[in-house]
Amino acid sequence: KIKGFIFDLDGVITLTSKYHSRAWRELADELGVPWTATLAERLKGISRMDSLEMILDAGGKTNGYSDADKERLAAKKNSNYLACLEQMTDADILPGITDFLEELMAHDYKISLASASKNSPKVLEKLNLAKYFANIVDPAKLSKGKPDPEIFLRAAEQLSLKPDACIGIEDASAGIQAINAAGELSIGIGDAETLREAAIHFTATKELTLAAIKRAMQSIA
Ligand code: G6P
Ligand code: MG
Repeated sequence: KIKGFIFDLDGVITLTSKYHSRAWRELADELGVPWTATLAERLKGISRMDSLEMILDAGGKTNGYSDADKERLAAKKNSNYLACLEQMTDADILPGITDFLEELMAHDYKISLASASKNSPKVLEKLNLAKYFANIVDPAKLSKGKPDPEIFLRAAEQLSLKPDACIGIEDASAGIQAINAAGELSIGIGDAETLREAAIHFTATKELTLAAIKRAMQSIA
């Protein structure tokens, strides 16, 4: 029986995925690393430092930068990202998310956030959504990022739930892999091909309702 819902943030709850992408693209341009749709997709759900490594790797530049250089580049991306957040309003909450969170609260489901972003508490506050979350996993305290299951296992544990009593919701392939490896039920939101490993797929957040999820669970049972 499902008792908890574990949300990714960027690209599921809000459009901050676009801001992350924009800020990384700016850095990639500066480094002379070609920006492609594949690279953009692969960066979703990946921690700040791992994202930088992925970009340097894509440009064949893994050896040219010291740790201090990397810290500086990651800090630069983050300050660009934070500048994007300044413009953020409630309009950046994706359609249907507030209603879905309300529905989950009304039915006493436990709700947690499993985002790789160190900025996620700030984003939830800005969107006025922090009140729905019983717990936010601190990504600074994890040893491995998505697609490793650690963050989703930690989320279940902090809700005092078994993984199989939890549903994880993600927009990124790395996130779906993490949910599946944690032994939780995965819901992918977005492109069906990108999210083909998800147990349940919806095209957009507005389709997220308990009724739709129950129907989907019956059809895969
Ligand atoms: C999420 C986003 C990624 C981002 C990562 C780290 O997983 O999907 O695009 O790189 O968080 O975010 P941070 O705000 O800590 O740099
Ligand atoms: Mg995401």
